[in-house]
Amino acid sequence: MRIAVYPGSFDPITFGHLDVVRRATEVFDRVVVAVLVNTRKVPTQTGEDRVRVIRESVRDAGLDQQDRVHVMTFEGLTVELARAVGARHIVRGLRATSDFESELQMAHMNHRMAPEVDTVFFMTGIDHAYLSSSLVREIAAFGGDVSGMVPGPADRMLRRKLAGD
Ligand code: PNS
Repeated sequence: MRIAVYPGSFDPITFGHLDVVRRATEVFDRVVVAVLVNTRKVPTQTGEDRVRVIRESVRDAGLDQQDRVHVMTFEGLTVELARAVGARHIVRGLRATSDFESELQMAHMNHRMAPEVDTVFFMTGIDHAYLSSSLVREIAAFGGDVSGMVPGPADRMLRRKLAGD
C-alpha cells in the first residue's frame, strides 16, 4: 500500500491544503494528514480542534471514502512519523517560488535523516496560490470574510473564535 504523510500546522486548513489532500489521494492509497503540535509556532487552536476541523472538511469534500484519508496529531520529527505509519513519501504543497527554498531545505534534510522517505510536491492550484493560513487568520480576526478561502468547518471555527467562544 502506498502511504504518504502530509504534515503541517493547518492553523487553519485552507482550500489550498484540501486541494493538495485531494490530489494526493489520486496518487497514494492512503494519505495521513498530520497536524504538528507542541511546536515553537503557537497555534490559535489546539491540535484536537484542528484535527476535528480537518476531518469535517475532508468528509464534506467527499474525500473520506474507504478510509483513504487519516487525520492525526503528531509531535517530533515528520520522518519519524512517516516511519511509524509506514509512509515512504511526504507530501507538501508549493504555492510560489518563495516556498521553494525552505521546502527544498526541508526535503533534503528529511531525506538525509530518512533516505527511504522521499518528498513529493504538488503545485498548489492557481486559485489558491496566494492563500495562507496566517493571512486567513489575520483577515478573520478583523472580521473579514474568509468563506471563499477555507472550508465551512474552518470558517465556522474562526467565527466562533471571533465571537469569543
Ligand atoms: O504548515 P507548515 O507550518 O508549513 O508545516 C511545517 C512542518 C510541520 C511540515 C515542519 O515544520 C515539520 O515537518 N515539522 C516537524 C519537525 C521536523 O521534522 N523538523 C525537521 C524538518 S527538516
